Amino acid sequence: MDWALVTGASEGLGREFADLAAAAGHPVILAARQAEKLEALAADLKAKHGVETLVIPVDLSDAAEAERLWTEASSGRRIGVLVNNAGLGRNGAFADAEGWGREWASLQVNAVALTVLMKRAVVAMVAQGGGRVLNVASTAGFVPGPQMAVYHATKAYVLSLTEAVADELRGTPVTVTALCPGATKTEFFKADEAESANWLTKMPLPTARSVAEAGWRAMLRGRVIHVPGINNKFSAFLPRILPRRMVARVTGMLLQRR
Ligand SMILES: NC(=O)c1ccc[n+]([C@@H]2O[C@H](COP(=O)([O-])OP(=O)(O)OC[C@H]3O[C@@H](n4cnc5c(N)ncnc54)[C@H](OP(=O)(O)O)[C@@H]3O)[C@@H](O)[C@H]2O)c1
Repeated sequence: MDWALVTGASEGLGREFADLAAAAGHPVILAARQAEKLEALAADLKAKHGVETLVIPVDLSDAAEAERLWTEASSGRRIGVLVNNAGLGRNGAFADAEGWGREWASLQVNAVALTVLMKRAVVAMVAQGGGRVLNVASTAGFVPGPQMAVYHATKAYVLSLTEAVADELRGTPVTVTALCPGATKTEFFKADEAESANWLTKMPLPTARSVAEAGWRAMLRGRVIHVPGINNKFSAFLPRILPRRMVARVTGMLLQRR
């Protein structure tokens, strides 16, 4: 069975994707910065599903590290599934100078590293005659996000890139899918700089497992874009019929920290 490479496998959605890949029989490569968490997950997956695992600690805010990850992961291994899941955001005004560190990291991880890995994977998958890429975007990709401007822009990029490459790959045995979850119960909003509006984190949020399962299924079906959940589908559709300025204004009000 082909290997599955999952980025951001130390927490949240990434852990669930790794478990789903292993449950389907894939040997799994786990990548993120927190090596201890990855090692513990690798041991769990081995015990639970009897699959081979490989842990590659990596900081994806460095594009050269993303290249290293692919080189190490693919050395002597056929990678049939790439789950481009690692990502982070920052809540705060773009005009705040202090926010730049996390905004820059968001840009690098969510857009640059994702593209490096997708590029390497798609080239290899076309040459080997098959493969699947799952890019984790967000409903944030459908709207500009005042207070989370860089994060929303990176997710819009992921959506655009996925749709374009999916079209290029039409009729080939290689598929690329963008999963667009709305707010989900993970560590995402726990970092001080990512903590979001009160209403957002107080709502009953879907579990990481249910969202990852929806994404995994969409990837297996070769869907180009998948928005899980009726509320998220609605919030992805609504901006298409409203004036863009109004969309930005309303989104900014919703994202405002209180
Ligand atoms: N939770 C939500 O509400 C939500 C909604 C829509 C989309 N998403 C997207 O879903 C994806 C997964 O997020 P999550 O909700 O599961 O959040 P999470 O629990 O915070 O997990 C984020 C993962 O990304 C990894 N990561 C962050 N910075 C990294 C870096 N510099 N290098 C390598 N790995 C890095 C983290 O690992 P380390 O810290 O170990 O490096 C962690 O495993 C992200 O792309 C996010 O944008 C989340």
